[in-house]
Amino acid sequence: MVMRRVDLRSDTVTKPTETMRAAMASAEVDDDVLGYDPTAARLETEMARIMGKEAALFVPSGTMANLICVLTHCAIRGSEVILGDYSHIHIYENGGISTIGGVHPRTVKNNEDGTMDINQIEAAIRDPTFEICYPTTRLICLENSHAHSGGRCLTVEYTDKVGELAKNHGLKLHIDGARIFNASVALGVPVHRLVQAADSVTACLSKGLGAPVGTVISGSKSFIARAKILRKTLGGGMRQVGVLCAPALVALEENISKLEGDHQKAKILAEGLNKIKGLKVDMASVETNIVYFDILEGSNITETHLCKILEAHGVLTMPEGPLKMRLVVHHQISESDVQYTLSCIQKAVIGFVDENGDK
Ligand SMILES: Cc1ncc(COP(=O)(O)O)c(C=O)c1O
Repeated sequence: MVMRRVDLRSDTVTKPTETMRAAMASAEVDDDVLGYDPTAARLETEMARIMGKEAALFVPSGTMANLICVLTHCAIRGSEVILGDYSHIHIYENGGISTIGGVHPRTVKNNEDGTMDINQIEAAIRDPTFEICYPTTRLICLENSHAHSGGRCLTVEYTDKVGELAKNHGLKLHIDGARIFNASVALGVPVHRLVQAADSVTACLSKGLGAPVGTVISGSKSFIARAKILRKTLGGGMRQVGVLCAPALVALEENISKLEGDHQKAKILAEGLNKIKGLKVDMASVETNIVYFDILEGSNITETHLCKILEAHGVLTMPEGPLKMRLVVHHQISESDVQYTLSCIQKAVIGFVDENGDK
């Protein structure tokens, strides 16, 4: 018997659909390092249009996209970037902006909703008249949706205010928009409006949108021209890359409209978890496709044990720290998968099942 598999580890785990595989097989390609791949050009033009920017650039990953953007904005030695203390760039990207780029990070506390207080951002901007000692602030980075806060969204009003602050101080604004489409759908604001204040924005195709590979950077023509050189330096220039851009185009066409359903399923999951004795979800944090839940002190199960039991029942999850778990919904999770997951978690928490099956 084939065991049911429900993969909630991340939205990066989706498998390319048949349409995506067909598009890969028939993609028109050429050498993209030389600038001749027509499918890459089509994807980049489409993304620039969606983002409301002049130009765009396909790169292999979100990590490389953020690195390229920060380094392009901070090309002068001694640059400093202001970013959230729980931002993906700061925590999960190997400190690449410093180790590879020599850019100094200045963190500001991320609030529970993923924002940073605007007065704290302003206070973190270095006084340029004391440049004999200070690094020079050149960039502010936001993340929308904010992964570590459970996929919460930064509003357009907030983003505009940070953009205004940046402008007033002669700084650039970058948005890590790995899940910007989730944020746009959840807020009901078109993507181009949500990122209007940004000088650069990254959007991952291989997360909620379900493409197998890739992230697109969008910005001005001159920014993208400089980013393209850095992409080559970092080894991210790819030759017949149209085979990866073709499924990304399918993802844009077919999967943006599925995000709202993903968010609804995440809410159903969160509500169901909250009904299980011993578990707690902060419902306010469930704005998009990510659900964090706590296992309450005194429960007879830990996150690693629960994860193992679920795995034995085909439900894949990620422990997120002591007594904390993360589940991520994507377009290959059905409502029935959500109900199955809830019933597995319920049975595991009450001790009805273990790693070896029903007790
Ligand atoms: C908010 C955010 N930014 C950037 C990234 C990096 O993307 P990649 O895994 O493609 O390098 C991730 C990955 O999960 C992310 O969640």
